[in-house]
Amino acid sequence: MAEVARVLFGREDVRRRVAELGRTITGDYVGREPVFVTVLKGGAMFLADLMRAVHLPVEPHFMAISRYGDAEESLGRVQILLDVDIDLTGRDVILVEDIVDTGLTSRYLLSVLRSRGAATVELCTLLDKTARRIVPVQPRYAGFECPDAFVVGYGLDFQERYRNLADILEVFDQGALRADPDLLQSLVAPAA
Ligand code: IMP
Ligand code: MG
Repeated sequence: MAEVARVLFGREDVRRRVAELGRTITGDYVGREPVFVTVLKGGAMFLADLMRAVHLPVEPHFMAISRYGDAEESLGRVQILLDVDIDLTGRDVILVEDIVDTGLTSRYLLSVLRSRGAATVELCTLLDKTARRIVPVQPRYAGFECPDAFVVGYGLDFQERYRNLADILEVFDQGALRADPDLLQSLVAPAA
């Protein structure tokens, strides 16, 4: 297994970092009631943990998108399949993402949210793969700098698998995983 993937950020690292982000956001938004907008499905785990680490009234809302081909081919154009169902006028919005890679998806979603009349729109991502950026997106909050590698777990998938993995794994051998998408299934252990 070791040659295919290794733990990059273990569940304890994730727990600690999410708690820190929660404290920071709590401090930054004192007296306000931020709207957290998360993109399904990858951001769902992070949102669930992050909002419980924020000691303010927080409203969770969801969007779902489909990409036209991969992000780079489509230049980040996405189709919105599910949209937030509240008026964002005057609200403090935080876009909560699992990972920012090229930045195309986040740039598009930030522009959509800004066009809705929000008072403020910020980006919070668990993983920031800055090496892969093709448009300048700078998250206000980022959990971890992510190496230029393919990662799975804690919301992030390979062919819809491994979102329920408690740890975040770096996959070294994507060929092996393509050949057997369930190769890492034994690592999906119940959280202790
Ligand atoms: P971007 O538009 O290139 O920033 O794409 C961000 C999206 O690509 C994320 O929301 C993920 O769904 C997906 N993605 C990017 N990198 C990875 C990865 O290493 N593992 C799994 N999904 C990824
Ligand atoms: Mg995916």
